[in-house]
Order: sequence, then C-alpha cells, then structure tokens
Amino acid sequence: MTLPLPHPALSAADPELAALIGAEEQLQATTLRLIPSENYVSAAVLEASGTVLQNKYSEGYAGRRYYEGQQNIDQVERLAITRAKGLFGVEHANVQPYSGSPANLAVYLAFAEPGDTVMGMALPMGGHLTHGWGVSATGRWFRGVQYGVRQDTGLIDFDEVRELALKERPKIIFCGGTALPRTIDFAAFAEIAQESGAVLVADIAHIAGLIAGGAHPSPVPHADVISTTTHKTLRARAGRC
Ligand SMILES: Cc1ncc(COP(=O)(O)O)c(C=O)c1O
Repeated sequence: MTLPLPHPALSAADPELAALIGAEEQLQATTLRLIPSENYVSAAVLEASGTVLQNKYSEGYAGRRYYEGQQNIDQVERLAITRAKGLFGVEHANVQPYSGSPANLAVYLAFAEPGDTVMGMALPMGGHLTHGWGVSATGRWFRGVQYGVRQDTGLIDFDEVRELALKERPKIIFCGGTALPRTIDFAAFAEIAQESGAVLVADIAHIAGLIAGGAHPSPVPHADVISTTTHKTLRARAGRC
C-alpha cells in the first residue's frame, strides 16, 4: 500500500478528518495487529465500500422493497445470498444484518421472547457478549445461563452443558465463541439441543473462513441456525449472514 492514500475530495472538504484517516492508514501499515477480530481488507473491498451504494435505502427484501429504484441493489443482495449459500452449502441465507451482533439479535427475535432462557458460553471462558452475557442487551432482555470449559483441560465440558440444558431448558443454545482456539464439536451440541428442545445456533464469526476453506468441520449438518460476520476471517467489511 502506498501511503498516504489520496483522498482529494475529503481533504478539501474536511482536512481534519482526512488527516486522522491518513494517520490511521499509517498506523495500520506499520503496526502488526494481533486482534483476531480485526481485519485487513483488500483494495477491492475498500473500493466497493466507498461507492454510490452508500446512498441507498433498501428496506424489505429483493423484489419486495419499501423504496423505488432498487433494480441494481436487488441484484447486489441476490448475488451476496447466492455466494453465501454456495460458500457454506446452505439452503437459505440472510445477508442483511450490519454485523455479527445484529445477526445474533435477529436470531433471538426469531426464536425467543423477552424473558426466555438462553444459553451460551460464559464470556470469561471465551464466549461472546451476544450469547446472553449480562452487560449485553441479550443478557438483559433474556435470561442468560452460561456453560464454561473444564479447568484441567480447557475443553468444553459436555456433561456440564447437558446438565445445564436439561435443568434450564433454554429456548436457544449458542455454540461458538470469541476466544475459543479449539475445534467445536457441533454434533455434540446438536445432540444436547435436541434432548433439551432448544434451537441450536452456531456462531461461527471467528472461524467462518476456516469452515469455508474446509479446515474446520462445518456446523451445517448439525445447527438449526448459523450466524457469522464477514469482518474477521472472510476479510470483507463489517457484514454478516
Ligand atoms: C463469536 C462472535 N460473535 C459475534 C460477534 C459480533 O460481531 P460484530 O462485531 O461483527 O458485530 C463477535 C465479535 O467479535 C464474535 O466474536
């Protein structure tokens, strides 16, 4: 990347903001970032992010919008859906949430009512805020119960998961997490979800690229719903499925 990148219109309209963006470009180009959820998008993704698509409102679904003038936007959304379905081998894909957190919120709205019990991995054990943790809206609107990992092995204790699920009868069980450097046993989670009558959601935000590339088993045969973000290992801008 040649620095600084030219932003002539922005530099003329708002030199202060342009300077801050230039400083961030410099920082990102000269600092090794080890935050796994952060991303280096390609020049193609950067270009696609700064287009007239920014000007649009596109509520509703392709072919059934609340706004006129969607002939190109509908094709963009359909293209994204077709690609997501092909990449993960799924029958349906919704590409509308702005990122992984709103994608998970959509899952709650579809499968639970406020006050219902939901189950996920505890945040300090590697889970994500949106899996029912108390400081997130998901832990305030729903009753979150959490499983963890065994202290001696660092692995998920499926006896604990089963016991908790049968005791608490959550509407939704989330598997997958943020700081979970182990293979996720989707089949074991599916068995427990079935036994306890829960909807199983595999949140593959951090491993979507590994799954797409075949380096991690896919949750597709096991999970009722899969949520992800395009912003981590898929190397796109903040996005979702
Ligand atoms: C497991 C998991 N799910 C969901 C999210 C939320 O994704 P986003 O930050 O794109 O909203 C994250 C973010 O780090 C995550 O680690």
